[in-house]
Amino acid sequence: MEAPDTTSSPDAAAADGTVVVSGIQPSGRLHLGNYFGAIRQHIDLHKEHDAFYFIVNYHAMTTVQDADQLRQHTFDVALDYLALGFDPEEAALFVQSDVPEVTELTWIFFNLIPTSYLEKGVAYKEKINAGLTPNAGLFNYPVLQAADILAYGGTHVPVGADQKQNLEIARELARRFNHRYCPDDEPLFPVPEPHILDHVAVVPGTDGRKMSKSYDNTIGIFDEGDALKESVMRIVTDSTPLEEPKDPENCNVFALIKLFADEETQQEIAEKYREGGYGYGHAKQELLGLIEDRFEEARARRKELKKRPDYVRDVLREGAETARERVMPIMERMRERTGIVRTR
Ligand code: TRP
Repeated sequence: MEAPDTTSSPDAAAADGTVVVSGIQPSGRLHLGNYFGAIRQHIDLHKEHDAFYFIVNYHAMTTVQDADQLRQHTFDVALDYLALGFDPEEAALFVQSDVPEVTELTWIFFNLIPTSYLEKGVAYKEKINAGLTPNAGLFNYPVLQAADILAYGGTHVPVGADQKQNLEIARELARRFNHRYCPDDEPLFPVPEPHILDHVAVVPGTDGRKMSKSYDNTIGIFDEGDALKESVMRIVTDSTPLEEPKDPENCNVFALIKLFADEETQQEIAEKYREGGYGYGHAKQELLGLIEDRFEEARARRKELKKRPDYVRDVLREGAETARERVMPIMERMRERTGIVRTR
């Protein structure tokens, strides 16, 4: 009979072998697209499993070039997560650059992936088309992301639908490393699974396109008062007059309402659309209320946390310590397998 595995953590959360990892861009104010695409899943999952969430400041250098801004955004994301319910007792939240092993692993991975593979990167091409300089950071972005995931032995990666291809590259790198350096029965890196919620694949922005910072059509999670009202009022609708019946399934406002409201409320509002005598202004008011309710507590918490920068810093430092403990033995095995010598 096999001996019980005494190396695994006694912690029930860790016992299923699932390691959730995800990176968060500190590139500005987080919006509803980020929330429904990824953050909500992050918050849901971090209590059930081992989870490592990192604020990807190295990745953000591809778009944020101002030092103060990068620093500010980095701490802001931490505040946002803590306010939205991330519990540092349950999992690790930290800054990517606090675990330098990840950049070491990135270099190892550079030698495992042909450049032709990266040239096909959709995100890369999109960013070039949007006017970013095609530098090596942008080009190699998915390799750093793969290192992010594999350094922690990540098995599960909750991300938005736009990250599918980057995940495929991480999967490919895990397979290639294992194939080149490991005996068949002892792969070092699990091949990570993307965890994408299809039904919220696209959160419409105020102009009806996918909500995205680069389209300037976002509604911020922590916007409030007039700023929030203005964004909601900006949502594009057609010109059907107030009294006429409307099709909820063809309306940007309703698409957002669906993300917030329970089944019953959705039905009620859809009914009002179809009956007529219900204008888009009414729907927008409804949406405004729903947004306010959903984030009211988080907003209050964020204001409190903002007064405690030392606490936020401590959370990140402790998160980084936990993360490094996790990474260290994996990296040691990586060096042994690849023949990278460390004499001290
Ligand atoms: N590229 C991701 C995004 O834009 C961020 C990211 C960096 C990430 N490293 C990661 C996501 C590792 C998941 C896992 O959202």
